[in-house]
Amino acid sequence: MPDKAKVSDWIRYDFSNMMADTIGEEHGVTEEELSVLVGVVLSYHRELEAERSSGKIGFLDLPYADETVALVEEYVQANRDRYENFVVLGIGGSALGAIALHTALTHPFYNLLDREKRGGPRFFVVDHIDPVVFASLLNVIDPAKTLFNVVTKSGETAETIAQFLTVYDLVVRHLGRSARDHVVATTEEQDATGANDLRTIVEREKLASFEVPKNVGGRFSVLSAVGLLPAAMTGIDIRELLRGAACMEDRTRTGDLWNNPAYAAAALQRILDERGKHISVMMPYSSQLRDVADWFRQLWAESLGKRSGVDGEVVHKGPTPVKALGVTDQHSQLQLYVEGPFDKVITFVALDQLDATVAMPPAFDDLEHVGYLGGRTMNELMEAERLATQTVLTDLTRPNATIWLPRLDGFCVGQLLFMLEVQTAMAGKLLRVNPFDQPGVQEGKRRTFALMGMRGYEKLRKEMEARRRPNPRYVIA
Ligand code: PA5
Repeated sequence: MPDKAKVSDWIRYDFSNMMADTIGEEHGVTEEELSVLVGVVLSYHRELEAERSSGKIGFLDLPYADETVALVEEYVQANRDRYENFVVLGIGGSALGAIALHTALTHPFYNLLDREKRGGPRFFVVDHIDPVVFASLLNVIDPAKTLFNVVTKSGETAETIAQFLTVYDLVVRHLGRSARDHVVATTEEQDATGANDLRTIVEREKLASFEVPKNVGGRFSVLSAVGLLPAAMTGIDIRELLRGAACMEDRTRTGDLWNNPAYAAAALQRILDERGKHISVMMPYSSQLRDVADWFRQLWAESLGKRSGVDGEVVHKGPTPVKALGVTDQHSQLQLYVEGPFDKVITFVALDQLDATVAMPPAFDDLEHVGYLGGRTMNELMEAERLATQTVLTDLTRPNATIWLPRLDGFCVGQLLFMLEVQTAMAGKLLRVNPFDQPGVQEGKRRTFALMGMRGYEKLRKEMEARRRPNPRYVIA
């Protein structure tokens, strides 16, 4: 059971500026529109609860997976001081959560700190197979001082397997019999089909490993060993993270959208999506939360962008997520948000309190564009810019909401991630699509297998090669 955290420690979802009361009926949502969805949300809430009880969806239970926490902590305790570098090899849901946690909850220049201050190994995530970047990384790290965490739920993703093959060969060549001490895998358990090749390798080579629960999809796996192991390895308090997630789990047990921030956010975005606002922008006013926006971009896109509805009919649905960063993107994207088409819903993420204060010394008082900043803080400037952006959008009737975090720590980030996962699950229900599958991604994977010569894909390969030639009429050289 979650402990009862103080309400002042809760994150808050403020949707005043989404409502018609504030921005008018043309672009705002009326209470009547929300009331229509109250019963609908409640029935989908019951559907989600039933899927949870039957074991179909597992992410809702991750805050309470004490056994995983104990295993991760035991492993970290035994291994954290043995390595100079910790390298995550993975992609999509197998990388973005670890990156988001690291950016949010460790020192912004973690890798530049000396070992004592860092407390853990240097941290790298390679969620790409750009040969230049990959080769460069291998050139700068010593395999003898590195632990590679290969993360793939399915155990078959081409990019991750390619990375694994390369580093495993490297450690075997350099380290011989102790090579296995330099790889830890995070993947599903083997099922009866024996289709998870990484799990087979783990068993064959006797590698250390963690499990991704079968009923937890990649993009919903940040609070499983997928995100917890890298987090704990770099000193993040994973118990606090899960305590925050449990707090939000408790808050989102109600099917009443007026009391459930995740459901309120899903319902509001659904209403506005139906009214042509198909773009959902997440814009944190915290550089350390920028990768949470990146993580959420995948969660929203892969969960909601679907060809088929739940009844099998062709629907081609899905709002488009965009990530932005305040203040940086005020000088990049904001012009579009303020004056472009009325097709966006903006969600700011803001902090009540920051861990540092930077004061600007008074100087050049006679200069108009400089003097006024003297004696103020960067904190005040950032808050002024957040408020300026929020009010300009609101005055111009652009729907926007703010998720407020009391502070940036594991407890609050745990709440935020969990809220966004529940919001996504409910958004899928409201769109009448399955938020937990990704057939479009699978199709891309199949075609890669074919082109790279996997057995059984010969026919697909031939078909693709026949269609590959460009029409010279449309190539300008
Ligand atoms: O969320 C998802 O399901 C995907 O983004 C996967 O995480 C991604 O395709 C990687 O898959 P895997 O973890 O099986 O390597």
